[in-house]
Amino acid sequence: MLRLASDSSPTWLAAALDDVGTVLLDHAHCEKKAASTALNLIFRYPDVPGLVEALSPLAREELEHLELVVQLLRERDLRFQHLQPSTYAALLMQAVRRGEPDRLIDTLLCCALIEARSCERMKLLAEALPDQELAAFYRGLLASEARHHNLYVDLASRLSDRTTAHARLTELAAHEARVLVEQEGPLRMHSA
Ligand SMILES: [Fe+2]
Ligand SMILES: [Fe+2]
Repeated sequence: MLRLASDSSPTWLAAALDDVGTVLLDHAHCEKKAASTALNLIFRYPDVPGLVEALSPLAREELEHLELVVQLLRERDLRFQHLQPSTYAALLMQAVRRGEPDRLIDTLLCCALIEARSCERMKLLAEALPDQELAAFYRGLLASEARHHNLYVDLASRLSDRTTAHARLTELAAHEARVLVEQEGPLRMHSA
């Protein structure tokens, strides 16, 4: 179950289907960023029980996803090049509280929401893309992105208690839904 407070708009899906190349390119950067975020958490919190055991395989899996997307880009004669990211993740992370363990709990929950939003949008793409190879590719990612969502929620729950972590997740999910629609900028995996 993805704990999101809103559904993506049909406008986003229409724009994505209209410019699949940009979505794919941004998706490649999102996978790279997902791996890098997990690795950064291992650097920052090596002594948190269970964190390295959970996030090292996750980082590896995100890098495997990155390799798959880059291959799909190449097959479509699209270059894996720099692309200005959406403001989504930075705006989402503005809600992270200061001081530990709140800072880590909120960071993990924001990561959980990013995974959930990616998963929700990949499902929309899987159902709507006319390119059957791409549709199958997105279908193939759904299970692992949903698992990543749960993994981040579980890690946050271990740092406080399940009820407190879930209450905070509900607050952050409402913030995520606001950030998603209020941000401005061109089409991205996490644009409005
Ligand atoms: Fe991924
Ligand atoms: Fe993921």
